[in-house]
Amino acid sequence: MKNTLLSLDTKYLYENKNLGHLIANEIVKVESNHLRKSIDKIEENIAVAQYDFIEVLKEDSYIKSVQNVYENLKWAEYMVVIGIGGSDLGGRTIVEAFYKKSNQMKVLFAGDSTDPVAFQRILDQIDIKKTVFNVVSKSGGTLEPLSTYVFYKSQAKKVASNWAKHFVFTTSSVKGILKDEAGRHNVITLPVPEGVGGRFSVLTPVGLLPALAAGVDIKDLVTGALNFATNVETRKVAQKLARSQYELYQQGVKVSVMMTYSVQLQEFARWFRQLWAESLGKDGKGILPIKAWGPADQHSQVQFYNQGSPLQSILFVKIKNRKTNFTLKGIDVPEAEYLEGNDFNTIVNIEADATAQSIYDEGRPTAMLSVEELTPYALGELFMLFELAVVYLAEMLEVNAFDQPGVESGKILINQKLGKN
Ligand code: PA5
Repeated sequence: MKNTLLSLDTKYLYENKNLGHLIANEIVKVESNHLRKSIDKIEENIAVAQYDFIEVLKEDSYIKSVQNVYENLKWAEYMVVIGIGGSDLGGRTIVEAFYKKSNQMKVLFAGDSTDPVAFQRILDQIDIKKTVFNVVSKSGGTLEPLSTYVFYKSQAKKVASNWAKHFVFTTSSVKGILKDEAGRHNVITLPVPEGVGGRFSVLTPVGLLPALAAGVDIKDLVTGALNFATNVETRKVAQKLARSQYELYQQGVKVSVMMTYSVQLQEFARWFRQLWAESLGKDGKGILPIKAWGPADQHSQVQFYNQGSPLQSILFVKIKNRKTNFTLKGIDVPEAEYLEGNDFNTIVNIEADATAQSIYDEGRPTAMLSVEELTPYALGELFMLFELAVVYLAEMLEVNAFDQPGVESGKILINQKLGKN
């Protein structure tokens, strides 16, 4: 098994002598019995194969079916992915992380907005005759992807003799509107495994088809996640993350910021935000996730993180080595000569370290997650690290990680207001 490409450093948190003046007590190993029991319970569940988001990674059939479907779509120049929430953010994350201009297929994302301007913007970028629309919805009935599908179906009908050829549905193979619609019109489908909820579905056909269309090695992605989940040592990294978040929560720190120092991980911060919010925010409990992007937000939110109300902990994420890099040479601006010989990989990481240090010096809880190099394998590991951490954390908080009643009630009300029976 390959060595993990991730390392989590929480010494900023545990060794910070200044923390005491901001939160009620020093960070101590609170309720260690409860923590131990929570971790043991999840470990037992993993051992008896209770989590389908892990188990499906062991089945090659999902990768194969995605590859087979993709073979039939290769005629297309554009893929428009139509999904929302868990049916959207994972695919976006992978495509953003490994975007290459040379890709044969341009992958765009629609379905997470019903703003008509969003529709126009997509139409401006594609030629429908050369486009495949990948409608991703496990339930098949979510308003945003459903209405977006209906719209693009009508557009495709205007220009294509066989409109159904322009669509693929990634949906439940058991029930739902899309399943029925596929049967009526002979649309290609890919399954969303029944036991995997939206925000845990990134490494199923939900995220894998957009990833493959964007030229990503999907086998490597899945292997990274599977190896992380099946290795006791790497699972300890997820436990460490969950435990530090829980200890902080007990001390009144109820906001968790992820600050990523990589343009390749901006969508990852959004994916994390959804996973954390929908899985943990219920029963009057939870840790509010915030996304921040370095260096941009050093000139924005960091003022608050350094000196504002001490509400949050901050997890920095940096990539140690990049294949793409530029060095500043032959500088002819006298005031900038101190930068001579520096490369941007070093600069961005110094910015991450220095910003973390400045927040640490103010006595705020911070931690650093380092990625050796951002490969598909490493991204797979990152997905699994946070999926596992949220499951441990939910057990510690005594909430159900896998439901989202607050989202469902909103969906029902919107549909009622739009006249759905
Ligand atoms: O994580 C979740 O379960 C949600 O965010 C869903 O993914 C989101 O509501 C979309 O649901 P569906 O795939 O059924 O359209």
